Amino acid sequence: MKLGLIGYPIQHSLSPWIHKQFMQQIEMTGTYQLYEVEQNQLAEQLSQMKAERINGFNVTVPYKQMIIPYLDELDVHAEQIGAVNTVLQRDNRWIGYNTDGLGYITALKTKYPELFSGDKRVLLLGAGGASRGIFYTLCQEPFEAIDIANRTLDRADELLILNHSNQIKVTTCTYEDAEKSLSQYDLIIQTTSVGMKPNVNSQVISMNNVKRGVVVSDIVYQPFLTSLLDDAKQQGARIHHGHEMLLYQAKLAFQLWSGKQVNAEKIEVAFMEQIKNVRN
Ligand code: ATR
Repeated sequence: MKLGLIGYPIQHSLSPWIHKQFMQQIEMTGTYQLYEVEQNQLAEQLSQMKAERINGFNVTVPYKQMIIPYLDELDVHAEQIGAVNTVLQRDNRWIGYNTDGLGYITALKTKYPELFSGDKRVLLLGAGGASRGIFYTLCQEPFEAIDIANRTLDRADELLILNHSNQIKVTTCTYEDAEKSLSQYDLIIQTTSVGMKPNVNSQVISMNNVKRGVVVSDIVYQPFLTSLLDDAKQQGARIHHGHEMLLYQAKLAFQLWSGKQVNAEKIEVAFMEQIKNVRN
């Protein structure tokens, strides 16, 4: 099977490692190639990949939206989210999917199933591309309320149309408001790039007033323990690391391409080692 990843910059990507593990699990031979291209070469690169009849590929920053005009079909969820991270080739037609949000929620559910019991309050920090997919998927779960906090409030408001649930109460707020009412949340999800290497000491809000036992989740996976997670841990929170979203979105993408089930939990410990060993 011929697979790959298109984006820029991607030379430190761990996706080739993950998909090699999945190929081994199902005893499949294949390649997972990195297509690191700048924007002015995107169209040419894509037509080359089409000619090569690549079986499928992932799409990452900055092309998750730009890829859409090149696709023949869009899965309904990817269409709603407005971004694609996985492309599947069938009969030389390209179909776009988004496994980021579902990958994230699957990982969270695996670790903390009790969060999905129906009466929990969620705080979502950030309203960028990553947040859109996560919010869209969160809205399909039985939460009581989801508050979206963002530096730019208008961008948080733009997420509201992604909520198709009649049950969940969704509101938007500033980081200041969120910090003040932090103790009411059962789950806090950090979706911005704040805290990512090399700015490891920054965090969007303080975790000072979190409820004991709250789950705090950060999608940043470099460093492995972000400043926000460290802060939350010291306040008695349970934490959920960012590498899990990466692993589970890859699992769902691979299952789309191969039509076979693979096991992400089995490779998680080795994957954490890979993350810790990456040199930037
Ligand atoms: P992505 O597609 O990777 O999510 P994005 O669409 O640029 O990237 O969104 C980045 C998110 O991080 C947004 O919520 C952004 O806040 P704004 O909408 O106000 O721009 C947030 N973000 C990025 N840098 C930030 C910073 N220094 N402080 C606070 N929020 C930041």
